[in-house]
Amino acid sequence: MEIKELIRSALAARKTAYAPYSQFLVGAALLCKDGTVYTGCNIENASYPAGNCAERTAIFKAVSEGKKDFSAICIAGGREGEVSEYCPPCGICRQVCAEFCDADTFQIILAKNETEYRIYTLGELLPLGFGAAQLKAENTK
Ligand code: THU
Repeated sequence: MEIKELIRSALAARKTAYAPYSQFLVGAALLCKDGTVYTGCNIENASYPAGNCAERTAIFKAVSEGKKDFSAICIAGGREGEVSEYCPPCGICRQVCAEFCDADTFQIILAKNETEYRIYTLGELLPLGFGAAQLKAENTK
């Protein structure tokens, strides 16, 4: 899967964003290690905290269909119109990525369009993250 293709999927998913309150439209495309792609958009709610980010929509769709091995996620977001800035994932979405993805190898691609993008690892965006290792018995002493 080419990066450009993943960016195209994120931009297409952004078109389905439901964001009547913020008018901030986000699309995400999650690449599974088996090559399949799950897309997601943000879905807001009149009760604001009930809304969901594009990244988590994509991850939850994938996990709910039995996928747990991911290699990259592409995110494209911004106010209505073309994407003019990079849209970094919120802290909750970084944490959800950390549940399933390797900090050193999972790639987070922030895209404006097919030619303007930046690639980070999850570890770069979520250093010293809290995870399952901290819950293990030897760490609770
Ligand atoms: N949002 C996302 O979907 N992903 C991000 O990475 C940042 C923020 C959404 C949540 C809300 O619907 C809107 O953007 C404004 O915060």
